[in-house]
Amino acid sequence: MLRKEQNDILTQTGPGTPMGALFRSYWIPALLAEELPENDCPPVRVRLLSEALLAVRESEGRLGLISEFCAPRSASLGFGRVEAGGIRCAYHGWKYDVGGQCVDVPSEPAENGFCKRIKLRAYPLVRQGDVLWTHMGAPEKRPPLPEFEFSLVPAEQSFTSKRWQQCNWLQAMEGGIDSSHVSWLHSANLDSDPLFKGAKGNEYNLKDPKPVFEVLDTAGGLLIGARRNAEHGSHYWRITPWVMPCFTMVPPRGDHPVHGHFWIPIDDENCWAWSYDYHAARALTAAERQAMRDGKGIHAATIPGTYIPRANRSNDYLMNRTAQKAGLTFSGVEGIAMQDASLQESMGPIADRTKENLTSTDNGIVLARMRLLKAVRALAEKGELPPGVDPAPHRVRSASVVRAPDKPFGQAAADALAVRPGKPHASV
Ligand SMILES: [Fe+2]
Repeated sequence: MLRKEQNDILTQTGPGTPMGALFRSYWIPALLAEELPENDCPPVRVRLLSEALLAVRESEGRLGLISEFCAPRSASLGFGRVEAGGIRCAYHGWKYDVGGQCVDVPSEPAENGFCKRIKLRAYPLVRQGDVLWTHMGAPEKRPPLPEFEFSLVPAEQSFTSKRWQQCNWLQAMEGGIDSSHVSWLHSANLDSDPLFKGAKGNEYNLKDPKPVFEVLDTAGGLLIGARRNAEHGSHYWRITPWVMPCFTMVPPRGDHPVHGHFWIPIDDENCWAWSYDYHAARALTAAERQAMRDGKGIHAATIPGTYIPRANRSNDYLMNRTAQKAGLTFSGVEGIAMQDASLQESMGPIADRTKENLTSTDNGIVLARMRLLKAVRALAEKGELPPGVDPAPHRVRSASVVRAPDKPFGQAAADALAVRPGKPHASV
């Protein structure tokens, strides 16, 4: 349970807010590379951390994220024309480069230099893997690029999608580090989803619905271990790393690709659920890639031409009571992604954490909130660099392992949690 002021701090990320300052310390996913597919392509309106922005790819391939609104009277540059070197407003023809610098005001004589004094807010946009990343903080505090393994492996080994989620980022992220719900909400999917089924670990998952959670602090966030009983007194561990502020990696199952998420605030009542899948040691098969595009695994089928899930709040998530009764899905909602989203959105646009009844399976959530609050305070009061800004903690893996009960999981699985390029995840 949180006090109202703590809940407000964690859930408000607009300009000038303490949590907004924390998010602006990191490189965050802004767009999929496919959204700006070629030079001179249409610009894309993007809302991030409650700021209205426009992503531009100009004729030479330079990328930029600039304020959506033209300087004179705030008309949207979303109607603009992408031209050599930048974008020209459709209203009065003012032109900006991808760094937001005004380079032409046609109504003013060029020699008076008026346009030099006009600059829009602008952030970098850098491609790494399938993702265009941005850093919305002060340029002098820009950290090195992120080093998450999923976006560094060769392109054929990785797949990333995103979907719009109609709730605050934090309750979505909390769903991602609460793996006890898998034994219920996603139980039917463990046997049927092409990206989940067939793993030995699924049996442990389904046999023991009372996992014991242990959580360890790390330099970048947490390691959340969920322990279930396996044969002869050994333990089946599912270990989820959480890297601040919002990166997680789900523990693997068999030889399936490994997946995880970022939850990025659009504004305080909406977020992007980013979902990646990769295999550290091999290319994804055509069948795996197709399943991901079709919304299997942790991905969602979206309305063509958008990132809005086909099953969404407006159609009651295409709830199928017959399938629920027959046990084909536990909740009647199809697909892991929308099973999660439906329940997370049902908590309201911003979950009220003053009215909670938490149990030991929520330990990861409680500790993540504490780490975030501590980092927010240290940044606001002492300007301290938040954990996970430095890329070293990005080089971490999830793991699923069976181990004797003699050592704490952090020690027993230490080798499994390190990135070993080209080698597969430790997985059961
Ligand atoms: Fe889930």
